[in-house]
Amino acid sequence: MEQYHTGNKVIDEGKQGEALVLEAQKPGNRKLYIESYGCQMNFSDSEIVASILTEHGFDTTRDIEEADVIFVNTCSIREKAEQTVRKRLRTFQKLKEKKKDITIGVLGCMAERLKEKFLEEEKLVDIVVGPDAYRDLPNLINTVDHGQKAVNVQLSKEETYADISPVRLNSNGVTAFVSIMRGCDNMCTFCVVPFTRGRERSRDTESIVNEVRELHEKGYKEVTLLGQNVDSYLWYGGGAKMDFKKLSEIQKASSVNFAQLLEKVALVSPEMRIRFSTSHPQDMSNQVLETMAKYENICDYIHLPVQSGSSRVLEMMNRGYTREWYLERIDAIKRIIPGCAISQDIISSFCSETEEDHQETLSLMDHVKFDYGFMFKYSERPNTKAARQFEDDVPEDVKSRRLTEIINKQRQHSMEYNQTRVGKTFKVLVEGFSKRSDEHLFGRTTHNSVAVFPKKHYKPGDYVMVRITDCNSATLIGESVED
Ligand code: 5AD
Ligand code: SF4
Repeated sequence: MEQYHTGNKVIDEGKQGEALVLEAQKPGNRKLYIESYGCQMNFSDSEIVASILTEHGFDTTRDIEEADVIFVNTCSIREKAEQTVRKRLRTFQKLKEKKKDITIGVLGCMAERLKEKFLEEEKLVDIVVGPDAYRDLPNLINTVDHGQKAVNVQLSKEETYADISPVRLNSNGVTAFVSIMRGCDNMCTFCVVPFTRGRERSRDTESIVNEVRELHEKGYKEVTLLGQNVDSYLWYGGGAKMDFKKLSEIQKASSVNFAQLLEKVALVSPEMRIRFSTSHPQDMSNQVLETMAKYENICDYIHLPVQSGSSRVLEMMNRGYTREWYLERIDAIKRIIPGCAISQDIISSFCSETEEDHQETLSLMDHVKFDYGFMFKYSERPNTKAARQFEDDVPEDVKSRRLTEIINKQRQHSMEYNQTRVGKTFKVLVEGFSKRSDEHLFGRTTHNSVAVFPKKHYKPGDYVMVRITDCNSATLIGESVED
């Protein structure tokens, strides 16, 4: 599963200048406004959607008032994510009351989960389209133009959009997402993703490497390879999930696993930083860690969701590993990539979680000392195994208290980590200007820590050596030093 971004970031088009040129060339184009919620994969999918529609005569816009088509790319991971989207739809629907001919579409996980039901529940929605059906969008819009509602929620065993070159939305011109696989076969009992994103499949290696090469040629300096479970990436001429042992000798010889893919991508250019998300503790191999250690441009950062510190709870979650296995993987990371930053996802208060289980999560956190984390209260999702077979029985006040304890512990560990970095110098890739001041730039270290420093003559896209002078639990503060 991938890293989830808290806060509902709105993305729309890329550079305004570019959009203006397009408008001047094609004055009659319809305008697409697209908003994304949820994981990085969703943001990346919106770029595929934008690409498909710009090929069909649309321009993207960041001004919702001038949009002819409004899309919302949705997330179903927790109930709260769905509530946020429903609230947002109310605003879109008010716009539609003023401007009758706009088309409203619901894309992504929530569309897949609710299917036709969405049209009954939200009467002003015109299009419902699941994550594997984006190629059908021009067709679906055409159906709506002819006065009907349109739905395509067909999941696919093959679709990876490998040949589609994403339109980079809201891009800083420095960092980009590259999707390497889709779907998930893990069947964690709490998780809706296997239902909303379908079966796991890997994308053709060559198309991934080509996309990274093109990004490099356009001046990008960092790519994040995305998948629900990147460690099980395997391309063997086909992409459907396969056990390596079951491949023919010929397929084995030409196959590419995740470690090999990482190496190919790292070799595109030493100037291009590589990140990836998300790793699964069950599948993360030493070969991947060794490849990370071998290439300076593969960042020393791993997002390794643990979910719980209790082996009993992990078993109920069907995570496929125990506490001991997870800790052994952590030891392997620390041994093979000394100083590697590690972040977690934790679900607090899963069905039947006792105080003792909760204490095991806290003690695992003390043992690992994660740099960073994403922590959630368990939220029951319809049709998952947990919803069907287990009781969501931890009382709300206990859930809140446990989550607060987990968040406080993480905050303390993040602060301790950042303090160990004060006085040291790190190579920072500049992503943009600091939110607080035009005189400061911000960027990331290899460990994915955000660093802010006075801009001097530097600009986004530069690698700058920054000496850290101060910090809080979320940000490093420093000054550039000549290298
Ligand atoms: N309730 C709470 N958190 C969840 N996650 C996934 N499903 C649920 C759920 N039903 C969390 C997991 C996952 C992250 C992306 O979201 O921690 O790794
Ligand atoms: Fe991403 Fe869908 Fe999962 Fe939300 S439910 S985190 S959008 S895969």
